Amino acid sequence: MKPIRVALLGCGTVGTEVVRLLTDQAEDLTQRIGAPVELVGIAVRRPNKHREVPEHLLTTDAEALVKSDDVDVVVEVIGGIDPTRGLLLEALRGGKSVVTANKALLAEHGPDLFEAADASGADLYFEAAVAGAIPLLRPLRESLAGDRITRVMGIVNGTTNFILSAMDATGAGYGETLEEASRLGYAEADPTADVDGFDAASKAAILASLAFHTRVTASDVYREGIRSVSAADIAAAKGLGRTVKLLAICERVVSPSGQESVAVRVHPAMIPRTHPLASVNGAFNAVFVEADAAGEMMFYGQGAGGAPTASAVVGDLVAVARNMVASGHGPRESAYAALTAQPMGNTPTRYHISLDVADKPGVLSQVAAVFAEHDVSIAAVRQEGRIEDASLVIVTHAATDAALRSTVDKIGGLPVVRDVVSVMRVEGEE
Ligand code: NDP
Ligand code: HSE
Repeated sequence: MKPIRVALLGCGTVGTEVVRLLTDQAEDLTQRIGAPVELVGIAVRRPNKHREVPEHLLTTDAEALVKSDDVDVVVEVIGGIDPTRGLLLEALRGGKSVVTANKALLAEHGPDLFEAADASGADLYFEAAVAGAIPLLRPLRESLAGDRITRVMGIVNGTTNFILSAMDATGAGYGETLEEASRLGYAEADPTADVDGFDAASKAAILASLAFHTRVTASDVYREGIRSVSAADIAAAKGLGRTVKLLAICERVVSPSGQESVAVRVHPAMIPRTHPLASVNGAFNAVFVEADAAGEMMFYGQGAGGAPTASAVVGDLVAVARNMVASGHGPRESAYAALTAQPMGNTPTRYHISLDVADKPGVLSQVAAVFAEHDVSIAAVRQEGRIEDASLVIVTHAATDAALRSTVDKIGGLPVVRDVVSVMRVEGEE
């Protein structure tokens, strides 16, 4: 049996666990694939730091390793756009299959990578790029290929879910909860990619591309992070039997004339505490998928961490290796639908708005008039308190996001409104 020769690019949190799995499971992998897997090189930046792997495999010259004739498959767990983009294009153009966990690269340059893979006949697998260990991309790409997916909605960032879950549990504010998450090692020293929603937006782009057979890149994704989620937002959500989650939402939108487009967005939203995603706490991920024939499905598990992510990486490596043994290849890019991306302003959403108002005659009618002016229908109104401290909670029916934003802006300027306490989109109920 000719071995499948693997080059590993990166040996950090994920890479170290990939090496461990390949070593510990070598015999089983050989049986499952029908050929042994041989690690022929590991590219890193600082070889002296890597006492855990055989020294003779280490190199700082990732480019030479990728170009080597002794390599069949390149596994990339470096991360980021440079130098990974060039390295993976080089590998694919040379006919070497690629397994990557790099969501940022796929969300920015996925189409280039797919084109290179198609041209040379190489495979491109990336299960670990979204929701770590959870088998999600293969179900979207293969198991549900006979169905019509209408919506994918999920919690795809563990750091922000940890923070929001803790805020919900303790009532604490965002700043102090982020500090606690950093102290416990759940948030990185620079948490920007997570808390500002960049990580989730990359994952949303990948999910939407697969679900809707359309090229969706990070620039097509509307993005809001969790920095502005306040203790008041969380309390308002709790008061109405809801909780706040950072959601990645990918939807197939059909216009009244039957024209289809995709709407892809990442933002905090209130969801009912009875929704399956509401019980996903801590650093876990979960993704809810709706398809015409299959109905509703939920995928749940560990979305990050060295070992869970390595499980998905090595699973992909097995798939690629099996394809090689069978002289075949995996699924190609499927972007035939080429749906357009709908701007956020046109996307239908629902809002929860909490206001501090004076409790006197005519206030509610002034507020309601602004909703009517913008053609936004009110679903529920609740008032609490009297005279000085009245608070008004309004939940709308679906309207375009632009109309809802204009409504909130105008309400904030009404003299009878003392403060707009909380504004948040509502998902998971109608
Ligand atoms: P780490 O930062 O822990 O590891 C990165 C590795 O890449 C290090 O070994 C580093 O070398 C090496 N490296 C960096 N630059 C170069 C370079 N120019 N040439 C060769 N090697 C280089 O990252 P992670 O393991 O956490 O993440 C890897 C990928 O997996 C990323 O794309 C990430 O988004 C993705 N991912 C990570 C998850 C996680 O939980 N960590 C979850 C899901 C996906 P050295 O060690 O010598 O510095
Ligand atoms: N930083 C990501 C998270 C893990 O918090 O979920 C890698 O995708």
